[in-house]
Amino acid sequence: MAPISDDRFLGKRIVLGVSGSIAAYKSVALLRALVQGGADVSVVMTKSATRFVSPLTFEVLSGHPVATDLFAAHQDMLHLTLPERADVIVIAPATANVLAKCALGLADDLLSTMVLTSTCPLILAPAMDGGMWDQPAVKANTAALRGRGALVLDPEEGPLASGRTGRGRFPDENVILSAIEAQLCPRRDWGGQRVLVSAGPTHEAIDPVRFISNRSSGKMGYAMAQAARERGAEVILVSGPTALPAPVGVEFIQVLTAEDMGKAMTSRLSWATVVIMAAAVADFRPRRPSPEKLKKTGTAWKGLELEQTDDILALLSSQRASQILVGFAAETQAVASHAKEKLRRKGLDLIVGNNVAAEGSGFGSDTNAVVLVDREGRVTQLDLMPKRVLADRILDAVKALGVPATRSTRPQLSDTK
Ligand SMILES: Cc1cc2nc3c(=O)[nH]c(=O)nc-3n(C[C@H](O)[C@H](O)[C@H](O)COP(=O)(O)O)c2cc1C
Repeated sequence: MAPISDDRFLGKRIVLGVSGSIAAYKSVALLRALVQGGADVSVVMTKSATRFVSPLTFEVLSGHPVATDLFAAHQDMLHLTLPERADVIVIAPATANVLAKCALGLADDLLSTMVLTSTCPLILAPAMDGGMWDQPAVKANTAALRGRGALVLDPEEGPLASGRTGRGRFPDENVILSAIEAQLCPRRDWGGQRVLVSAGPTHEAIDPVRFISNRSSGKMGYAMAQAARERGAEVILVSGPTALPAPVGVEFIQVLTAEDMGKAMTSRLSWATVVIMAAAVADFRPRRPSPEKLKKTGTAWKGLELEQTDDILALLSSQRASQILVGFAAETQAVASHAKEKLRRKGLDLIVGNNVAAEGSGFGSDTNAVVLVDREGRVTQLDLMPKRVLADRILDAVKALGVPATRSTRPQLSDTK
């Protein structure tokens, strides 16, 4: 993981809200990283949070008294003065209770009252156990906050404090730091670029209810689209079926089959300056999908004949003008050499080789460890890191190749069908 540069948050005033989650101890490390990065951090804790970690810890590390009580602080009017001076409010961890209070506009303690009086950006890093994140109430509160412009990070999937496994883990510290950095000092180094990203799997029908597909979750492609957008690019995301919400600010095109995806990508190629083909397109499809559901008692399945789908990456490579073309290679062994070979064969500028069999890497996971190979033959091995952080590293590698300055007009989106 890249070390945090010393002046990353220099001169920035951050209010760190800590609420009553078992993950409260992790915000001690977050506070240290913010202070090391040069930020002036004031910590506000909920009453419940003080049951998990002593305010003294935050007080010593931040160099400021920790505010916990709305009324004890009344002389300084902290519920008004703290947010007035803040460049950003970060609530990490954010409990389900805090999400609900912020979504509803409740103001029954210092932290929630402060959020309600604030006009600065708000970032929430939820952490919760026991399936709370998947509850409709929590989903609705999260959607309401996002709809109002708050940045609610997704908690991570994995082992939880209760011993269960699920989505609810406190987001990776580097993801939170990157989000704060993006909010405070947005890198707009992709401004003027038009980035066409594909993501997710495709579904190839066997009959009206069955299909051939693969394990792609779409997370890497969505992270690429989000990163490019946050860095100032215009982005079109062409996505196969996934369970992910469309990234904010991105033009979103939903497709189902490899054929649809091929059309959606090639028809937008002339618009793009950079094309990132992160989708896991099905290589084969049934030659003659049945219009009726196949009976399992019959013998129809025995005659299931497959044909190859179009190679979209090769098509894009043959049709492109000056666009930079980035591909992904999902491998289970000899990742770097297979990636190099695919880069050459498909005429790519950069390839991201991914060992999908490695722990914490590949389909469905929130993290990835990859090898980047570029057209100059440079090979960069990147350790396991969150996909959103990796997306920035990939964009940096594309930038190092020199993103083109071409401009073309937006395609007629009706051309795609
Ligand atoms: C041991 C323990 C761990 C908890 N962890 C969480 C958690 O990770 N996330 C959460 O939303 N609530 C968690 N709770 C419940 C909250 O502490 C509780 O809802 C509390 O009212 C939150 O108050 P606050 O939002 O004002 O900090 C936990 C409770 C206990 C007893």
